[in-house]
Amino acid sequence: TGEYAVKFDLNEEQVDIRDMVRHFTEQEIAPHAAAWDEDYYFPREIYTKMGELGLMGMTTPEAYGGNLLSRLTGALVYEELAKGDMATAVGLSVHNMITGSLARYCDDEQRQRWVSRLATGKLLGAFSLSEAGAGSDAASLQCQAKRQTDRYILNGTKMWVTNGGEADLYLVMARTQAGRNAGGVSCFVVEKGTPGFSFGKSERKMGLHSSPTRELLFQDCSIPASNRIGDEGQGFKIAMASLDSGRINIGAIAIGVAQAAFEVARDYAGTRQQFGHPISTFQAIQFLLADMMMKIEAARLLVYEAAYKLDEGQDAIMYAAMAKCFATDAAMEITTNAVQVLGGAGYVRDYPVERYMRDVKVAQIFEGTNQIQRIVIARAISSNRG
Ligand code: CAA
Repeated sequence: TGEYAVKFDLNEEQVDIRDMVRHFTEQEIAPHAAAWDEDYYFPREIYTKMGELGLMGMTTPEAYGGNLLSRLTGALVYEELAKGDMATAVGLSVHNMITGSLARYCDDEQRQRWVSRLATGKLLGAFSLSEAGAGSDAASLQCQAKRQTDRYILNGTKMWVTNGGEADLYLVMARTQAGRNAGGVSCFVVEKGTPGFSFGKSERKMGLHSSPTRELLFQDCSIPASNRIGDEGQGFKIAMASLDSGRINIGAIAIGVAQAAFEVARDYAGTRQQFGHPISTFQAIQFLLADMMMKIEAARLLVYEAAYKLDEGQDAIMYAAMAKCFATDAAMEITTNAVQVLGGAGYVRDYPVERYMRDVKVAQIFEGTNQIQRIVIARAISSNRG
């Protein structure tokens, strides 16, 4: 028996968790996803159930009330959930992203206040970095946090907040030093219900309808200074490090959607008859399916590698960017081609592939556009980290 650089088998725990989430998704999520999409319905009850299954504390050590899983096992969870409903997987990913960051950057008193309630699903979390004028150029954000003795006063508007309006707790990046630089950004927890904190427009989107996206409005919103996470000026780095793990999750989610689209296309091609034969006997269709399979597997390997590097404490920034970029570009192509395989049937809502295609488009945009991922990769290459 030889020694291999890579071992591809899942361990027993990973198989158990994957199967548990697969069963949960098939029973509780997939049958309802089309209706949730149609109705713009946010299934908060599903998050409660995911809390009971330990999925809301996937990035939180047991000592803080969580159920810490490796990032690799987490990737399996997100892939399974996204096969049923990408929106639910994204909501969970954002929640775990901020819960993991709080577990990491909070002091003991702050952990007591928030982390175990997040990790058990009693509270739902959201992440807020972007603004109308600060998307890809995140460091230029202008929402202000002014220190006043033992408090901060927040003023400004944040945009594109996943779980916005529904979440109980918001990790908000705001400026504690005038200017447009990363060093002037700090990170705060703002709880829903704080006076001066309200919600603006709910976005009406192409897809991901059962994942709310909302503006946050701060008007002389006063929070205790003890709601600041980390030091003043550390906020941008906390946000970027959070996104390293978030981007791996988005890659895994894209794989789940792509896999679901592939399975629908494969099954349809096997039964749909034209010219006296199932269309799966035509090379035009076979090549589309072959490309789908090949790209799903390639994306999986990149996502698993990025997750592994993060688990091992290695520099994962470039790998997270590659995994997110490749998997989401692949998923866009695969879902588009799945619609093509189904033809007219794919373009209507009788089949789920048009929803997959509408949903997955945003994965090329959020958590850093795929153009930004390429900048991150290029910078790593030029700094010899690639
Ligand atoms: N981890 C830790 N620190 C990091 C980091 C990382 N991954 N990336 C950068 N930093 C640090 C840098 O080292 C630097 O620190 P020093 O000043 O001490 O050297 C500091 O942060 C500033 O970094 P840059 O100089 O690289 O900053 P920049 O202004 O050039 O921006 C960028 C870099 C990659 C373009 C960044 O702005 C970016 O990622 N933009 C995209 C924003 C984004 O992803 N938004 C997603 C919104 S959240 C979302 O979408 C969630 C959702 O709804 C699902």
